[in-house]
Amino acid sequence: MTVKKLEWIEAPTKKEKPDPNELIFGRMFTDHMFTMHYTEENGWHQPQVRPYEKISLDPASMIFHYGQSVFEGLKAYRSADNEILLFRPEENMKRMNRSNERMSIPSFNEEEMLEYIKQLIEIEKDWVPGEPGTSLYIRPFIIGTEPNLGVHPSHSYQLFVILSPVGSYYPEGINPVKIKVEKEYTRAAQGGTGMAKTGGNYSAGYNAQEKASNSGHAQVLWLDAVEKKYVEEVGSMNIFFKINGEVITPSLSGSILEGVTRKSIIELLQSWGVPVTERKITIDEVIESHREGKLEEAFGAGTAAVVSPIGAFTIDEAQYQVQDGETGELTKALYDTLTGIQTGTVKDHFNWVT
Ligand code: COI
Repeated sequence: MTVKKLEWIEAPTKKEKPDPNELIFGRMFTDHMFTMHYTEENGWHQPQVRPYEKISLDPASMIFHYGQSVFEGLKAYRSADNEILLFRPEENMKRMNRSNERMSIPSFNEEEMLEYIKQLIEIEKDWVPGEPGTSLYIRPFIIGTEPNLGVHPSHSYQLFVILSPVGSYYPEGINPVKIKVEKEYTRAAQGGTGMAKTGGNYSAGYNAQEKASNSGHAQVLWLDAVEKKYVEEVGSMNIFFKINGEVITPSLSGSILEGVTRKSIIELLQSWGVPVTERKITIDEVIESHREGKLEEAFGAGTAAVVSPIGAFTIDEAQYQVQDGETGELTKALYDTLTGIQTGTVKDHFNWVT
């Protein structure tokens, strides 16, 4: 593979690194960012690492009007022997191109893009924190930049990669959270954009999330858009249930995001010999299994939080506790193993780590 020459413009001044014990998710950014442009004449071109700074865009840029954008999220970890590790980054590159396809954004060369990200991280390696629970969050994203109010795909784009040193995503960390089963709003529908990582999927959930927060819930549990019957996701994460010894996660229906953590959990459970099934699961089945005392564990899974245990569900006025509100054994084992592989303390039999 020949990678296009990457230009590096060094930041004239460097920021002070934050206290690793006080990192808040996504609030602070490193000294440099990666940018690349797309035009129809030149394709993706001008890959550059340059100072992290404000950008200037025409107010008519299409991103501001019809929201044509995609993003990704992955993390770099510092191992005990000071190596910088990436967790399955090629999966994020593939998914970003799947999102591009759905959002009519031109695809990029995945190997090349990953190489640029590695070069950016090499430049910013001192920003990768090493304390337990910390990492450098990598946020690639693409926006439509053509100044044009016509409703059609942009003819020009900009791709950015910004980096943020982070601690845990949810203030609760690995502590169980209370979630609200959302009956009014939906996140995504069949044929919609639910499988793509695009901004509108997330902002469309704010309203429901706000209401859930106001009633003391950390997250909403999303049901399918048609029958409001099938479980889809929790907050911005995939969801898993352990019912009577079997782990179940909703199958990828087109409206569910194909999580890298989701995929890794399925593969990990299979390697442990724990029965794991991807299938449709109704909220009624979850309640029924709770009534029968068979709902053993429930958790969300995503890059940001890794694994986030669910301690209780509220459906209408009724509340159902899982594991007496404690973190389940399997949930904890998955969290420890995944974060262990990611940071190099658990042997990576899968070759997930780069
Ligand atoms: C994740 O779980 O990684 C997410 O999708 C959350 C992210 C949008 C901050």
